[in-house]
Amino acid sequence: MKDEKKDYDFGFQRVGESEKTEKVAEVFDSVAGKYDLMNDLMSQGIHRFWKRFTLMHTALTEGMKALDVAGGTGDLAENLAQQVGKTGSVILTDINASMLSEGRNKLLDKGSFNNIALIQSNAETLPFKDDTFDCVTIAFGLRNVTNKDKALKSMFNVLKPGGKLLVLEFSKPNELLTPFYDFYSFNVLPKLGEWIANDSDSYQYLAESIRMHPDQDKLLNMINEAGFSGSEYFNLTGGIVALHVGKKLSHEST
Ligand SMILES: C[S@@+](CC[C@H](N)C(=O)[O-])C[C@H]1O[C@@H](n2cnc3c(N)ncnc32)[C@H](O)[C@@H]1O
Repeated sequence: MKDEKKDYDFGFQRVGESEKTEKVAEVFDSVAGKYDLMNDLMSQGIHRFWKRFTLMHTALTEGMKALDVAGGTGDLAENLAQQVGKTGSVILTDINASMLSEGRNKLLDKGSFNNIALIQSNAETLPFKDDTFDCVTIAFGLRNVTNKDKALKSMFNVLKPGGKLLVLEFSKPNELLTPFYDFYSFNVLPKLGEWIANDSDSYQYLAESIRMHPDQDKLLNMINEAGFSGSEYFNLTGGIVALHVGKKLSHEST
């Protein structure tokens, strides 16, 4: 690991490939137990609106198949399962066993497990056949993935022709919001992390990783480079978050 080229960002640090993956794993092992509570506190519940907006773009109907990548504690997967109904199926996948275990307990408690399977896997090397899913979602996950281009390509491959990719992620807010947002991110978030989750470093990483993530247009290019067509994005809450949508062309339209 010591000889790795430091080609990747872990927040504001430059690290090697395996080092990034390990450090991200440490973050989510540490925050898993308090993840849902912290999400509500940090965003004052607004993450629920961002996720609802994403779910409005799935175009899923009864009987279809959906994949939620880096799905963590299962917020999207639970709702995707309702969209595809009993005759459809959803796979919730994440690289981190602690996050999946929280998700599993939450889904069991809510009784929403009938058509959801959990699989631990890396977004860069999704263990599914090509052309399997009608919709692939990834919410607040891509930023944490070491090789984002590889992950986008892997998501492209497992989508059926005609299927949709939805990437919900923090992005670049408009200039009016920036000073307030910076103050909140670098002063309030780590303190909240310290008080609630006894872990300020992970929330410092959160703030830094958001700043290092590609902005709206750069991510749009990356999505197109991975093979998607007709890609577009929607800014939410002044661009604090953006939903990117990409389509895998069906054979008829190629
Ligand atoms: C901020 S959480 C988002 C969880 C959930 N999607 C949500 O919106 O609440 C980021 C998730 O990405 C996962 N993750 C990080 N790197 C990953 C990778 N290479 N492949 C799959 N999941 C990854 C983490 O384990 C974590 O559960």
